[in-house]
Amino acid sequence: MAKAQAPDERPATDLEAGGEAPTADAARIASMLEQIAVTGTVPRRPGITRLAYSEPERAAHRLFAGWLEEIGLAVHTDAAGNTIAQLPGTDLDAPAIAIGSHLDSVPEGGRFDGIVGVVGAVEAARVLAGRDARTTHPLRFVAFAAEEGARFGEPCIGSKIVARRLRTATLARRDRDGVSLAEAMAGVGVDSRRLSEAAWDPADWAAFLELHIEQARVLESGGRRIGLVDSVSGSTRVRITVLGQADHSGGTPMHMRVDALAAAAEIIVAAERLANEPQNRGARITVGQIQVAPNSITTISGQADVTVDIRDLDWDRQRAIAERVVQLASEVGERRGAGVEVDLLAHTTPVVLPMWIRTVAAETCSDLGIPYRVLPSGAGHDAQVINAIVPAGIVFVPSRGGLSHVPDEWTNPTDVALGVDVLCGMVDRLDAVLTSGAKGTTDESA
Ligand code: HGY
Ligand code: MN
Ligand code: MN
Repeated sequence: MAKAQAPDERPATDLEAGGEAPTADAARIASMLEQIAVTGTVPRRPGITRLAYSEPERAAHRLFAGWLEEIGLAVHTDAAGNTIAQLPGTDLDAPAIAIGSHLDSVPEGGRFDGIVGVVGAVEAARVLAGRDARTTHPLRFVAFAAEEGARFGEPCIGSKIVARRLRTATLARRDRDGVSLAEAMAGVGVDSRRLSEAAWDPADWAAFLELHIEQARVLESGGRRIGLVDSVSGSTRVRITVLGQADHSGGTPMHMRVDALAAAAEIIVAAERLANEPQNRGARITVGQIQVAPNSITTISGQADVTVDIRDLDWDRQRAIAERVVQLASEVGERRGAGVEVDLLAHTTPVVLPMWIRTVAAETCSDLGIPYRVLPSGAGHDAQVINAIVPAGIVFVPSRGGLSHVPDEWTNPTDVALGVDVLCGMVDRLDAVLTSGAKGTTDESA
């Protein structure tokens, strides 16, 4: 992976080439990013670790709530552990325009994934609440719980709960320490028997906007500071358990072994090779996690568990690749005399986001004189889940070197401030479009 560039080595972006300077406050955004980073800093571990339904995640939600209360907004935490604030509009019965993202992280991850969208929501709330005029539609600012699938395998738990798309069986899913999702929820005061109380009534929400880091290199390499997302990759995640025969590494001849780890290694390489086949170009297959038992230098492994993350923008191909990975694993098992068990951890479909919201974003950028790039998202997002019940839009800001889910993840707070300007402009435009009922007639050519 290319080494992250030092700030002064970054390629010129359109601001340095005379682009628009943001009106949202980049210094305030940088300070909020720093304060949230503290909640995920673990002694002797690099990066940020703020896992789903953990105390660090709750600490970050408390910071979010405090900032919004300081602005004078009513804030509440719902039955799923999501934090939601409201700025009333002039029409008390109108559905809300919402802005938000997530506060949890992967283990030893970065300071910006999800956080940019939550801190951006706070800054947008500050800008919008600070104006004399109120929008017609109420505005809501949302921090979702548990978007990363890193702890329990299931991504977007907080947003799937509000969209009524979390499978009950997932509550029994255990993390690597054996803690179930329901137990982790209970540990931070979320009662898993009451999750349905957090469900959103789609009639109560008009649109959901998410500001997020790109987590790839397209914007940076193209010198663009704003990206408008047209489609979001799906992800199918499976755990493959290979059951071999633990035995002495010295006394057992090679032809008498059933080595679970060697079988798993063969499956991992076969999966990578599948992703590189020409007809699968664009799909991504990652084995990011392996657990081995007994994991001892002088014992042939008896069991190996690998997690496989299959991503694609094409739903049919995503499913076909997932089926092929399972088939490859079974073939390896048969050939080696090992057992192979497969657990489906999560299935999130790819999404094409509504063109009319992206058109609103494009018109907003044109009004503000901000060049943008339309692009797909290789990563998953809460907006992709929320879009099932409320029309959603995603605005990207660049990731330096494309790095994400690592301590070196970095995004320029000035780009975040520009993203907030776009969000605020979108709120005004959406407010007008939704009030006039003209959403279907905006220029679809963006
Ligand atoms: O893993 C993802 O797609 C995102 O970062 N949650
Ligand atoms: Mn994210
Ligand atoms: Mn992430």
